[in-house]
Amino acid sequence: MKKHHLSISFIFIFGALGGLLFGFDTGIISGASPLIESSFHLGTEQTGFITSSVLIGSAIGALSIGSLSDKFGRKKLLILAAILFLIGSSLSAIATGFISMVIARIILGLAVGGASALTPAYLAELADKEHRGSLGTMFQLMVTLGILLAYVSNLVFLNHNLLGIRDWRWMLGSALIPAILLFIGGILLPESPRYLVEKGKVQEARNVLGILRNNQKDNPDQEIKDIQKVSHQRKGGLKELFTVARPALVVAIGIMLFQQLVGINAVIYFLPQVFMKGFNFPASSAIWISVGIGIVNFVVTVLAYLIMDRVNRKTILIFGSLVMGISLTALAILNFTLSISAAAIPTMLLIAVYIFGFAISWGPIAWLLIGEVFPLSVRGIGTAIGSATNWIANFIVSQFFLTILAEFHYNVGGPFAIFAVFAFLSWFFVARYVPETRNKSLESIEEDLINRYTNKNK
Ligand code: BGC
Repeated sequence: MKKHHLSISFIFIFGALGGLLFGFDTGIISGASPLIESSFHLGTEQTGFITSSVLIGSAIGALSIGSLSDKFGRKKLLILAAILFLIGSSLSAIATGFISMVIARIILGLAVGGASALTPAYLAELADKEHRGSLGTMFQLMVTLGILLAYVSNLVFLNHNLLGIRDWRWMLGSALIPAILLFIGGILLPESPRYLVEKGKVQEARNVLGILRNNQKDNPDQEIKDIQKVSHQRKGGLKELFTVARPALVVAIGIMLFQQLVGINAVIYFLPQVFMKGFNFPASSAIWISVGIGIVNFVVTVLAYLIMDRVNRKTILIFGSLVMGISLTALAILNFTLSISAAAIPTMLLIAVYIFGFAISWGPIAWLLIGEVFPLSVRGIGTAIGSATNWIANFIVSQFFLTILAEFHYNVGGPFAIFAVFAFLSWFFVARYVPETRNKSLESIEEDLINRYTNKNK
């Protein structure tokens, strides 16, 4: 019994490791980029491109690697993503100039995007319905842990050129450790039982479910029957995606757009700069601000993990939209009415409340939902499109945030008021379009979708 338990934790922790690399590779650059800039004598635009090249690579990686998983399985492509992580991390640590760094970052992006499309579907397909919320939240938990580790790594290596190797090379190279773990995990992890049934490998699927469901009341045979009922019913492909699965596509795209348009990465990537430029904080405090955000973000995600199977997803999402909308509105009003020095501390506190609102809800649930809402036959391509949308929206917000901030003469009230509007709009989106998925099997979510389609076309 104990042994089983251990292997289940192993499977979910290693299965979610792609999230750690996602968080690490997007988080590390905030500390490393000024160092790379001076080391390679780059202009601001070039440095900006080094930051955003990962986001471009991620959109491409999600669409290509993620969508291939309906054909080749989740496991093989997870191993491919791990190999790309290894190559990208090594190349970025030994890059010799702008071009080689951009190439390394794009390869890393392909891996990050691939992992972010594969992992949510993989975890959802392994989990039982009672624990799918918390097990799926493991992905976001890993993302936030990755971001926190990146900030800590920035802090540890800054100005320490160990063994005569520049600090930023250590920062970027430290991603090799989780990349190696993901690679080993990828080899040891089982293939998704749902993918196996879809491909007619029923006995293999039964073996995997035998390992995963050690609870007496779980009956793998019944689960196999349920999966068989929905698999082979439909052919998959783009036609199905735009007909039967269209409501799921709307949910995936909408949820990912809003997850970014509420401005989370203006905080995660740029807050130190905001405090330096907007509130005249010294650079030495900036890195501590990052660590503070990283800790709040991670700790609140642990809380999300604990409540995810107990509270409806929609309720948590709407709660998060309101908390973000209200804290951002208050922040904007304060910054337009108070002096800079009077606004600094309340701004910091309101940002902590805003992160709480995001990390308890939209952070984990966006990734959870894209693994849940699609029918089996188009789950790979569906999560790939959802994930790519997230990266494109992330790219847009990250590109324009500093420009908009400058337009408002470095008053954060400006861009944050825009984010507040999206936070309130996201509430309506959830209420109108998002189905409740808690405590339903993936197969019954799929049946609801099919019934909706057949009723509409009667
Ligand atoms: C988002 C990332 C963000 C992170 C913050 C994720 O869910 O997709 O863009 O940086 O949460 O924790």
